[in-house]
Amino acid sequence: MPDTHVTYTDANLTEAVLGRIRPDANPRTAEIMASLLKHAHAFVRDVKLTPEEWELGIRYLSAMGPFVTDKRNEWILLSDITGVTMLVDALAHASQDNVTETTVLGPFHRENPPVLKNGDNISPDIPGELLEVRALIADAAGKPLAGAQVDVWHADKDGGYDSQIGDGNTHMMRGRFVTRADGVVHFWTVNPSCYPVPHDGPAGQVLAAMGRGPMRPAHIHFWVKAPGHRDLITHIFADGDKYLYEDAVFGVKASLVVDFEAKKKAGLSDHLELDYTFRLPKQA
Ligand SMILES: [Fe+2]
Repeated sequence: MPDTHVTYTDANLTEAVLGRIRPDANPRTAEIMASLLKHAHAFVRDVKLTPEEWELGIRYLSAMGPFVTDKRNEWILLSDITGVTMLVDALAHASQDNVTETTVLGPFHRENPPVLKNGDNISPDIPGELLEVRALIADAAGKPLAGAQVDVWHADKDGGYDSQIGDGNTHMMRGRFVTRADGVVHFWTVNPSCYPVPHDGPAGQVLAAMGRGPMRPAHIHFWVKAPGHRDLITHIFADGDKYLYEDAVFGVKASLVVDFEAKKKAGLSDHLELDYTFRLPKQA
């Protein structure tokens, strides 16, 4: 018989809450919820959370709503700036030799980018320094993968994504390509700039409260899908960017940093160039 007169206290509350997880609950859900509840209770005890601070926290979470739209997802941003996204990614994709490292998806991918042809410019009429990109999509052994789908997107020379500038609806600095028979995707664009993650909402409040800046080093996003291989979500970062060591979302990995200016500086090109080989692991 349940004890209808039980009193829940600091001493027994955590155990009582954990005890309410039904034995027939989905085992993985039960594992996740039990750990989450234990950590949440431990956190409250650790900092001795006051009722006023609890209320502030509830108000904070409630304020997220207006910042979750089809163009912006504040929850992803909060996960990114707290390092949770990269931790999940690190556990899922332990570094492997011969395959390209992963990093955050970020909040600016759009579901249906313009489908373009190799050799196209994804940033016509966008001011900026010309950048030529050749991406070889290959398997772990380096064999080119023809017919792979490659989404690319990046910020402009002032650090703005298409969803943040103009009417917000036009697709710019983004496109979807399919690799040629030689596994290559080739396109032209403008050199992206470093940029601040959106910091006019709740995630920005957290950054400011911790005394942290919102900047991300310049990069181009890639999302590669090839049949029989694991999806690859990553960026290529521009070497020399002053924010490489303080990326607001902790997404930088040394293997993903490339000198876009190398050929121009060596007198081998009159524009910036990015050449990179992306190696995808086989589907598990
Ligand atoms: Fe980005």
